[in-house]
Amino acid sequence: MERIALVQGASRGLGLELVRQLLEDHDRVVATCRHPERADALASLRARSAGRVSAVRLDVEDEGSIEAAAEAVAAGAEKLHLLMNVAGLLHDEASGVRPEKKLAHCDPDALAKVFRVNAFGPLLVAKHFAPLLRHDEPAVLANLSARVGSIGDDRLGGWYAYRASKAAQNMFTKNLAIELGRRAKNLCVLALHPGTVDTGLSAPFQKNVPEEKLFSVERAAGQLLAIVRRATPAETGRFYAWDGAEIPW
Ligand SMILES: NC(=O)c1ccc[n+]([C@@H]2O[C@H](COP(=O)([O-])OP(=O)(O)OC[C@H]3O[C@@H](n4cnc5c(N)ncnc54)[C@H](OP(=O)(O)O)[C@@H]3O)[C@@H](O)[C@H]2O)c1
Repeated sequence: MERIALVQGASRGLGLELVRQLLEDHDRVVATCRHPERADALASLRARSAGRVSAVRLDVEDEGSIEAAAEAVAAGAEKLHLLMNVAGLLHDEASGVRPEKKLAHCDPDALAKVFRVNAFGPLLVAKHFAPLLRHDEPAVLANLSARVGSIGDDRLGGWYAYRASKAAQNMFTKNLAIELGRRAKNLCVLALHPGTVDTGLSAPFQKNVPEEKLFSVERAAGQLLAIVRRATPAETGRFYAWDGAEIPW
């Protein structure tokens, strides 16, 4: 049985490293990103993979590109055993997105952009790729969430768009676990918090993070894959942190 994983958001950061590590126990890894032609690190990983990594264009803000990506993947694969939705947005100079320190900073365009990437993105990817996950073999759909998306855990406030978009993503994840689980009994749908990881996303906010709590991408990807590799359908619909501890919704 050929095992195929797909990482959505694989141009850099955690997604890129997940592709690299998934080659250890998958025959093929499909890496999607907005601009494959500009994803240099992914291109060099592909060049070293002996044809086991393929790159497919997918912009989570463009449903047409998600549909086209799903068709392209389905043309070469009957089923996926793992789909990880990794793309995420906390700050973006070009679109004026920066985490809000207070209510007065909330801007409807920035809120919409962050929701499109962090919440609607993983949902629409699930919508178009669901046929490849509807099979009887063990499979995992994992959405990269964040502890700050936990409503029960919110003690500091702020970061309105990012927190709320991940909370919305969490609800979508739970719903997907219920609906997709009806027809794919061996599918496990998870929300995962990777911890604070040394990537472009966290770079402006690392100042107060103790060294031992700032994970390298290698360590963070390994920790997430340890959870994914031992996941069973009995755990579907759960929200796990990097160490396997459950996070309250
Ligand atoms: N790093 C952390 O400390 C941390 C903590 C908690 C949760 N997370 C979550 O972990 C995930 C990965 O984060 P990271 O740290 O690896 O972030 P990152 O290094 O900033 O990478 C973000 C990725 O998202 C992609 N992306 C952004 N907008 C996109 C769009 N419209 N369509 C497709 N792809 C898009 C980027 O692609 P381009 O290269 O095309 O821009 C890039 O591959 C995110 O969901 C994040 O919320 C991270």
